[in-house]
Amino acid sequence: MIYFVTGITGTVVPVIVENLMKKEKDPVFYFAIRKDSKGNHIRARFESVVLGMDLDNSARQKLLQESKLVEIDVEKEKLGIDPDLYSELILNIEKILHGAADVRFDQLYEKIKVPNVVFTKKIYALFNEIKLHREIYGKSKLTLYYISTGYAYGIYKKPIPEDFPEFHPGKPDNTYAQTKAEAKFFILDKIKRFNDQIVIFEPTIIGGSAQTGKTKTYNLHYIVMMLGYMGKLPFLTSSENRLDIVPVDWVAAVISDIMSKDEYHQGVMRLASGSEGISIKYLRDVGYDFYTSNDPVPGHHIPKIRFVPRYVFNLMVQLQKSFYRAMYFCTRNKRFRKMVKGISLLEGYFPYITGYKVFENSKSRELIEKYTDCSAAPSLQDVFNEKGELVKKGYYRKILVDTLETGWGGLVDFERLEEKTATYKAPQAAYGTSRK
Ligand SMILES: NC(=O)c1ccc[n+]([C@@H]2O[C@H](COP(=O)([O-])OP(=O)(O)OC[C@H]3O[C@@H](n4cnc5c(N)ncnc54)[C@H](OP(=O)(O)O)[C@@H]3O)[C@@H](O)[C@H]2O)c1
Repeated sequence: MIYFVTGITGTVVPVIVENLMKKEKDPVFYFAIRKDSKGNHIRARFESVVLGMDLDNSARQKLLQESKLVEIDVEKEKLGIDPDLYSELILNIEKILHGAADVRFDQLYEKIKVPNVVFTKKIYALFNEIKLHREIYGKSKLTLYYISTGYAYGIYKKPIPEDFPEFHPGKPDNTYAQTKAEAKFFILDKIKRFNDQIVIFEPTIIGGSAQTGKTKTYNLHYIVMMLGYMGKLPFLTSSENRLDIVPVDWVAAVISDIMSKDEYHQGVMRLASGSEGISIKYLRDVGYDFYTSNDPVPGHHIPKIRFVPRYVFNLMVQLQKSFYRAMYFCTRNKRFRKMVKGISLLEGYFPYITGYKVFENSKSRELIEKYTDCSAAPSLQDVFNEKGELVKKGYYRKILVDTLETGWGGLVDFERLEEKTATYKAPQAAYGTSRK
């Protein structure tokens, strides 16, 4: 199979490609990449992605040597792809995986619209050209696999339905959800009007691997866990709210099965844990127990996050933000501006944490049963059986282990924290000694 793939430098797509390399005999890939903000060349970027893949050496070499890199610029016509290469794509491509997007929650609409909506429209334009070419030459039908998100449904008071081919999202939580919803409307319209072979995947929150606990990106719940560990999040709200987190290896296994088995070609597949969503309280309680008994920093005290009513929590956040803003205004100390920025970033996460988000997934589970070798998403938490006994089947512990092993991917410097803890404790120790 010959694929055109976007998003290879991201978190999810490399794992899908890894899976495809293992599941298919001779897959060929054209990867759409751009230079990064540091000016790193696309080949160097690609090589570093492949080096990090869980593949044996020969598969890695094969991927490095046989893949074609397509430099893109979303803002340019035809994605800025070299015209000869564009023609080659039209002739060769059999499947497209569009997994690229800007997943930040704090971007201005006009800015994030480009990677999330304009990009999708241009990928569809390419899809359309290839589709027509394949129809004229009697070749097999082309399929587009598009990665959307369950959170494109925005604010929803009821469980979020699996309503394909309909789509009635609520008010978006942020510009990310807004633009992903816009892109989904666009894609659905193409399915309805032209009966195109397009599969839309709707993962919820993608977390670390259920097998290894590892992740490439430490955001959302990871940040909340980190702030809790650092003692910088003394309060939280909505303890019974559920977070729908699915592991990246399961998401990649389902998507790659759908792509390589080549039997399911149109519709929406939600990749959610549904009723197995994890409550914020469980996340806090198990996380707290684990971090306090495995803390690598001696003497570091982890306060237990306390739950307060939502309005109190929101008020506290606003007061804190106003305080830091005022402090910055008075002192011009950049630290305060950084605090305001940090809180704003967190505010982007809050709707996911403090808002009601429950995803229906029974139809998708049937599709997954029918068209893949996967079963339901592995659960993050341990569960109780009918007899009320705790069954240790969750993978949350692996995630917790990974956060301490990597310091949240380098976000937490344990040595520095130890120094700070020691400095903080020093006067008490000296006082204690002098009293003896
Ligand atoms: N992560 C989640 O929890 C989650 C949940 C549900 C759905 N999804 C969806 O899953 C897909 C993959 O997400 P992810 O977590 O892997 O995202 P990610 O780690 O942030 O990676 C995003 C990818 O998109 C590329 N990209 C973004 N803007 C681009 C542009 N203007 N031009 C070219 N490439 C661009 C990035 O390339 P650069 O490296 O060049 O920036 C990167 O390869 C997205 O469609 C996302 O909406 C993710």
